[in-house]
Order: sequence, then structure tokens, then C-alpha cells
Amino acid sequence: MAKVHVQMTVNGEAVEGLVEPRTLLIHFIREQLNLTGAHIGCDTSHCGACTVDLDGLSVKSCTRFAVQANGGTVTTVEGMAGADGTLHALQEGFRMMHGLQCGFCTPGMIMRAHRLLQENPDPTEAEIRFGIAGNLCRCTGYQNIVKAIQYAAAKINGVPFVEAAE
Ligand code: FES
Ligand code: FES
Repeated sequence: MAKVHVQMTVNGEAVEGLVEPRTLLIHFIREQLNLTGAHIGCDTSHCGACTVDLDGLSVKSCTRFAVQANGGTVTTVEGMAGADGTLHALQEGFRMMHGLQCGFCTPGMIMRAHRLLQENPDPTEAEIRFGIAGNLCRCTGYQNIVKAIQYAAAKINGVPFVEAAE
């Protein structure tokens, strides 16, 4: 099948490539850009392990074609830390609150949480749980992911983080 030229901005850098029209964005990101943080956990668009930020939205990159992201702006988990290696508040929060175990869901979870906190900078626990409902985790039981996002929200908002009693 004839390949199509695509270009997009990924983690602040202009990238381009040749893809088949059927090439999924997740495969373009992983196999051509070698950004292998985003994962594939299903083939039915449920798990959210492939979540990236595309033009200001959380997008499951297994359910977009790369050609649909042509000209777009993508952020993946690899783009979250500062240039000096400083972890993003969410990355720090997931570590501090033990919001990951195997780590497979984590890149998608962090990218979703990143957008969630821009949609709603001070979410309640219920809003966090609903806000990450498109991201499945087999390991954590979600409780510590909620805390991680609360930790990050507090850090971003410049207020003390108070861990809720369980
Ligand atoms: S790989 Fe499961 S939703 Fe994309
Ligand atoms: S940490 Fe293993 S699936 Fe979430």
C-alpha cells in the first residue's frame, strides 16, 4: 500500500515519517519514533495504556491512525520530565504515592492525569476516579493512583498535600 508522509510535533520536536494509511498512531510512536513508553494492553480501546496527549486531548493512540495526527502536537510520557531530568509533578506523585507496580499502565495513566489536571486543576477523589475511568490498571487497585494525582495537583497548585485517611 502506498505510504503517506506525515509530520507532527512530538514532545516539542518536529518529526516526520512514512506510514501506511492503516498504521495506528501507537505503532508510529513506538516503532518509528522509538518512544516505547506508551503501551498496548488491548485491542478493543478499553485499557488506555496507549494514551497520549494529542492537540490538547487525551487520545487512545491505538484508536487513531497516524495520518489522523498529521500536523498535530503530541506529548508522550517521554516528554513529561524537565530537560534537566526533573520529574514532572505527576511522575513524582506516582513514585511518592506508590501509584505503580508493573508500570505497564503508568505512561498512559500519567498522560491522562496530565490532561485531567488541566481540565480540572483541583479534582475531588470522585472526579479523579471518573477522570481516569478510561485507563485500566491490573496492579494497584487504583487507590494509590488517586493519591498520586492528588499529590501532583497539590504540588502544581502550590498547596500542601494532605493524604486522605483510608
Ligand atoms: S491499547 Fe488498550 S485502549 Fe489503546
Ligand atoms: S501498575 Fe501494573 S497495570 Fe498498572
